[in-house]
Amino acid sequence: MKYKDIDRIFQTKQTPFLVIDKDVIRHKCIEFKETIGQARLFYALKANPHKRIVKLLLELGVGFEISSQEELSFLLSQGVSPQRLISSNPVKTEGFIKAACAGGVEFLAFDSHAEIAKLVQFAPGSKVYVRLSVSNEGSQWPLSRKFGVDAEEAVGLLIEAEKRGLDPCGVTFHVGSQCTEEATWIRALEKSKEVWDLAESHGLRLRMLNIGGGFPINYTSRAPSIVRIIKLVKGVIECLRCCTTAKPEIIFGKYGGRKLRDGFTAFEWNCLERAMEKFFRSQKPCPEQSKHSASKSASACLLNSAKVRTPITKEDAPQETTV
Ligand SMILES: Cc1ncc(COP(=O)(O)O)c(C=O)c1O
Repeated sequence: MKYKDIDRIFQTKQTPFLVIDKDVIRHKCIEFKETIGQARLFYALKANPHKRIVKLLLELGVGFEISSQEELSFLLSQGVSPQRLISSNPVKTEGFIKAACAGGVEFLAFDSHAEIAKLVQFAPGSKVYVRLSVSNEGSQWPLSRKFGVDAEEAVGLLIEAEKRGLDPCGVTFHVGSQCTEEATWIRALEKSKEVWDLAESHGLRLRMLNIGGGFPINYTSRAPSIVRIIKLVKGVIECLRCCTTAKPEIIFGKYGGRKLRDGFTAFEWNCLERAMEKFFRSQKPCPEQSKHSASKSASACLLNSAKVRTPITKEDAPQETTV
């Protein structure tokens, strides 16, 4: 999409509005998938649940990370198979857990005894993964203060989950949104490995590592590229494999064809950040833009502003999203 296309939209829409370029999403998604190799990719729906984005990601074979019953119902209504859904939200409502279980969502996160109790009651036997609190150093929106537990507590929770009939299958973390500090990813992986090994010493065989989101984009300064971070992550996982007793395929498993086998690594990713980045990068005062009125310039700013999130209130929302 070019500025002249955006200019055309300016002529027909009220401001503010949001323009998302599907080609950029497609390109970035393919790049991401090629780089992660056998790991699975999940789009955090909270970033933007626009139907055309969902449709595109479905076509590209991406799964979805969901945090609420509403997101679940919406995706099921769009024909998304529950096998493509996970929830890394460790504090779910009973209704959401029930619906997820009834709908066939396989993987659910937790980080407390209270959540285990709910899962046991409303999703007995389900596959659950513990959310680890990791350093969020270098991120602009830390998340570890509200979610996650330390390594030892994580293992205690995994053990309790197993005793109560759940299937404790893995570990997840989130380095915080817009994390530009590469060492933070390494530390988080090392901590995950600690949980992995400790769990194994208690007879638990974990098989899923979910590294969450947090991939940065270029705002006012240059951030490490997603490809670079993924390569780093893959390298660290390889390295952790070699120096420990855990079996390699457990840590970095395979997603084989029709059926999930062994274990796998999951990446949660907000592709919209990248769709916006194109505009951000190429932004320079252009003749068309200087012609716009103040309100139109404000919309241009919106295009280049911070990450796109599902708006919290209607008032916060851009009036329309064009995809
Ligand atoms: C569980 C989970 N996964 C993925 C994301 C997306 O993170 P980001 O936008 O930083 O990539 C979030 C954001 O809140 C999250 O909570």
